[in-house]
Amino acid sequence: VYTKKPNITPRRYSLMKRYLTMLNFDYRNPTHIVFGKDRIAELDKLIPADARVLVTYGGGSVKRFGTLDKVMAALGSRTVFEFGGIEANPKFETLVKAAELARKESIDFLLAVGGGSVMDGTKFIALATKFEGDSSSLLFHGFSPVPVDAKDVLPLATIATLPATGSEMNAFGVVSYQGGKFPVNHPSIYPTFSMLDPTLTFSLPKIQVANGVVDAFVHVIEQYATYPVDARVQDRMAEGIMRTLIEIGPITVAEPENYQARANLMWSATSALNGMIGVGVPFDWTTHMIGHELTALFNIDHAQTLAVILPSVWRIRKTQKHAKLLQYAERVWDITEGDDDSRIEQAIAKTEAFFQQVGLKTRLRDHDVSQDQIELVIEALKAHGMTALSESGDLDLDISREILQMAW
Ligand code: NZQ
Ligand code: ZN
Repeated sequence: VYTKKPNITPRRYSLMKRYLTMLNFDYRNPTHIVFGKDRIAELDKLIPADARVLVTYGGGSVKRFGTLDKVMAALGSRTVFEFGGIEANPKFETLVKAAELARKESIDFLLAVGGGSVMDGTKFIALATKFEGDSSSLLFHGFSPVPVDAKDVLPLATIATLPATGSEMNAFGVVSYQGGKFPVNHPSIYPTFSMLDPTLTFSLPKIQVANGVVDAFVHVIEQYATYPVDARVQDRMAEGIMRTLIEIGPITVAEPENYQARANLMWSATSALNGMIGVGVPFDWTTHMIGHELTALFNIDHAQTLAVILPSVWRIRKTQKHAKLLQYAERVWDITEGDDDSRIEQAIAKTEAFFQQVGLKTRLRDHDVSQDQIELVIEALKAHGMTALSESGDLDLDISREILQMAW
C-alpha cells in the first residue's frame, strides 16, 4: 500500500529522515510449510480423504524423476485426475483447458507439482474453474485482487520443484496472454500447504538453479532498494537473505546434491517473496516489469531478464536510491572504503559479478536482442500501462528506454 510516494534525493532524504517511518500494513500468510526430505507420503494427511484432486504439472520433469509416481501413491484411493503440459511462463489458453477439466470432473482440490510456472498456472486454474464468463477478464487487475468470491476459488497446494519465485507461499501468479505477462492476485490463492523438499530439486539443470538464485535475490532487492523508512527488522531480514544467497548461490549451482546449500536456497527463495520482508516498506518492481516484457517478446528466462535490467536500474536511479544503496554496500558487501558514489558503484559491480558467477549473462546483447528492438520493449510497456514505475511513480518510458539502452 503506497500512502506516499516521495521522490527522495540524498538532500531531501537528509531533510525528511526524521519523518520517514514504516507504512501501515496488514499481514497474514496462511500457507502451511512442510519442509524437508522424504515427506511426500504425508500428502495423505494433508489433503481431505474425500477430495477429488487434479494434479497439475509441467513438461514432464516430474515424470522423468519419479516425483509424480510418489505423489500418486500418496494420494491413495482418492479420485485423482492429471493435467500435464503447463509450459514455462504458463499460457492462458493451456490453463483454460485445465479449468474446463476441473469443472467437468467436479474437482475440489488442486495439487501443483512443479516450478513457479506450474504453481502460478494452478493458481489461475483455482480462480477460473468456477468463474462464469470470460476468464481472460481475470488478467487485467494488476496487483489488485481479482474480483472473485472466496467461495468460488478452489483450494490448492503445491509441491515445489524449483526454488525461485516464492509462489509456494504467496498469493500471486503470472500468466502469459497475447504477448504480455499479467499478474493475478487473490487472498484465496495462497496455497493451503506447500511441500518444500530440497531433494526434489537435485535434478534441476544448473541454469535453472542459477535462475532461482538470481530471482530470489532480485525479489529481495525490489522490496529493499528504495528509500529508508526505518524498517529495521525488514531491512535486516532482507540483508540476511541476500548474504545467504551470496554465500550458497555458487555452491548450490556447482554441487546440486549438497543438501545444506540447496535447503538454504529453498528457504531463501520462499522467504524472499512470502510477504514478510515487504511489510510496511515501499516497493520498486521496475526490474520485474521491464523483465516481463523481455520474456514475453524474446523468450528470455524470467531471472535472466532481471540480471540484465537490475544493474542499469540502479545506475540510473542511484540518486533516488542513494541511502539504501549505501546501506546495501555496507551491510551486504562490507564495502566501507571510498566516497558515497564509489561505494555504490562498487556494490553494483559486485552484484553484477555475483550474477555472472552463478552463470547468468548481464547484458541484453548477449541474449541476441538488437539495439533497435529496444523500441519494441518500450511499446509493450506502454501497451501494458507500465508508464509510471518505481517507488516514486515517476519512472516513465523515457527512463525505461535509458535503462534498456544502458543494459544493452
Ligand atoms: O516443465 P518441466 O518439465 O517441469 O520443466 C521445468 C521447466 O522447463 C524445469 N523444472 C522444474 N523443476 C524441475 C525441473 N527440471 C528438473 N528438475 C526439477 N526438479 O524447469 C523449467 C523452468 O520451470 P519454471 O516453473 O518455468 O521456472 P520458475 O520456477 O523460475 O518460474 C518462472 C515463472 O514464475 C513467474 C515468472 O514470471 C515465470 O512465469 N513468477 C512468479 C512469481 C510469483 N508467483 O510470485 C514471482 C516471480 O517474480 C515470477 O514473475
Ligand atoms: Zn521474479
